[in-house]
Amino acid sequence: LKILITGGTGFIGSKLVPSLLDKGHEVAILTRRTPKDSGHRALTYLQWNGQEMPAGIGLYEVVINLAGASIAGKRWTDEQKDRIMNSRVHATRACVNYINRSPRKPQLFLSASAVGYYGVEHEGEIDESAAAGTDFAAEVCRVWEAEAEKAHCRTIRMRIGVVLGQGGGALEQMLPIYKKYLGGKFGSGKQGFPWIHIDDIVGAMEHFLETPDLEGAFNLTGPEIVDQGSFSNALADALGTKDFFIVPGFVLKIMFGEMAVLFLGGQKARPDHLIKAGYAFKFPDLPEALADVVT
Ligand SMILES: NC(=O)c1ccc[n+]([C@@H]2O[C@H](COP(=O)([O-])OP(=O)(O)OC[C@H]3O[C@@H](n4cnc5c(N)ncnc54)[C@H](OP(=O)(O)O)[C@@H]3O)[C@@H](O)[C@H]2O)c1
Repeated sequence: LKILITGGTGFIGSKLVPSLLDKGHEVAILTRRTPKDSGHRALTYLQWNGQEMPAGIGLYEVVINLAGASIAGKRWTDEQKDRIMNSRVHATRACVNYINRSPRKPQLFLSASAVGYYGVEHEGEIDESAAAGTDFAAEVCRVWEAEAEKAHCRTIRMRIGVVLGQGGGALEQMLPIYKKYLGGKFGSGKQGFPWIHIDDIVGAMEHFLETPDLEGAFNLTGPEIVDQGSFSNALADALGTKDFFIVPGFVLKIMFGEMAVLFLGGQKARPDHLIKAGYAFKFPDLPEALADVVT
């Protein structure tokens, strides 16, 4: 297949793209960086501004939309909130316009979202039918998904959990803290921690490519539902350290402001649609997933 990917240079894209190339697909990555020679016959970089497709971009059978300014990268000032929201809306709108105006419609649009869609309102386990939340992260996901839904082709909105992999994502921030024995609970530690191994993000996307009747919202989370306190214990075990610390909620709120919701308000999101779609997880349990990525 000919596959176009926005944000394919990021943490997820860097694992997805080599896997797609191995399977014989042709990949073009839209990037804001100066394009370089990919060194691979089937991989090209195309420069864009994050808002409009370059002229004469050609025909693609699949569009994968991963672009967006980091949600957890910086404190949520008004300016940063605009950057987080607008980067997603503009990139998604560009994909939708491309799909809807294409003389030969792509067969599939995979658009990223996050389990943050559900907000902090749900205490127990939830599936894809749960209502959207009301905090800023939830609002971003709701607006992002609403843009994706305008595409006139089979569309999957991927509500991605906390992706565990090497060289990026949440673990990259957590490992130095845990290695110094400074890890522990955020607040009560009872909030969900919707983890997924990066190989299962790649595996799920390839499953969507290979299974023609799937569409709609999918939670991309692991099947073992844990709270943040249990995740912290499992991470300390994987590293052979301890996680004695408790960081009270009010301290996180002082440190991170409104963004503290990311630490204090995780979701217990079950991957029901993925399981129903027959996807077999490569890393269904947490200790094995952590052992694979923690070094
Ligand atoms: N990793 C996770 O745990 C996780 C969890 C939930 C949801 N997600 C979502 O899944 C998507 C991919 O995640 P990721 O971890 O691979 O993200 P990432 O490493 O931050 O990469 C995203 C890519 O988006 C592009 N980008 C950054 N800022 C942009 C802007 N202002 N305008 C347009 N493009 C911009 C960059 O590509 P160029 O510099 O090449 O343009 C970057 O490589 C993101 O939208 C993220 O929110 C990720």
